[in-house]
Amino acid sequence: MPSELSPIDKAKYVAARRAIDYVEDGMRVGLGTGSTAVWMVRCLAEMVREEGMMITTVATSSATAELARSLGLDMRDLDEVRWLDLTIDGADEFDPGLNLVKGGGGALLREKIVATASDQMVVIADRSKYVDRLGAYPLPVEVVPFGWQTTKALIEEMLTNVEVMGRSVDLRRDGPEPFVTDEGNYILDLRLRRISNPAQLSLILNQIPGVVENGLFLDICDVAIIGNSDGTVELRDIHDGTIEHERVDLIDGDNLFVDVVD
Ligand code: A5P
Repeated sequence: MPSELSPIDKAKYVAARRAIDYVEDGMRVGLGTGSTAVWMVRCLAEMVREEGMMITTVATSSATAELARSLGLDMRDLDEVRWLDLTIDGADEFDPGLNLVKGGGGALLREKIVATASDQMVVIADRSKYVDRLGAYPLPVEVVPFGWQTTKALIEEMLTNVEVMGRSVDLRRDGPEPFVTDEGNYILDLRLRRISNPAQLSLILNQIPGVVENGLFLDICDVAIIGNSDGTVELRDIHDGTIEHERVDLIDGDNLFVDVVD
């Protein structure tokens, strides 16, 4: 393990390193977005290079696509590949049922499309993302720019009728300007503090005209790999109902910083 990493980066790194064990030769793999996913893309590129594997990848954001290409991974459009064997992605929050909040990096729409088009989704995260109940992390909702203030008002009105603890809605900004997603949309961040019924909330949000998609990923994730800074990981498999603990074996000279353009 690169010794100069901070504890949080070590945790992300071991989760990412363990996740690539799920990748087999010939697979079509969805690549997530965010700092944990960056570690995974680096680990995957190194494995593909060293083992001469044939892997086709689809990215969930332009940033991930750029990184993957710079590392020599075979990157395709989802329309070319159609269906994926596996997607590995980060999360902003996940609960014991492996329901997720995603979109902190603004990529929730592509992330949800790619994860839903995958036979299996593996989430990788440090332990801080694991929560008893979703909602502490603001829920991102992607909306079309046209009439976004009306859409925001409709969401605020809807929130008065659902069981949440907070109800403020903020337009995500990039400096003074609205943050714009890869699909040219805006993001509204819903500060709900506690989401009592994620399925109901997701359904109602997606019925509002102007809402493109929300950051709740329900019944999509199959496995969560929680990384710890001591080099161990916890694997939670929702189908088997198992929770396993392992130490990640790292080969001396893991060479993740080679060829990486930051
Ligand atoms: C991107 O839109 C998000 O869904 C990310 O997966 C999430 O923000 C995780 O990012 P980190 O790995 O940087 O915490």
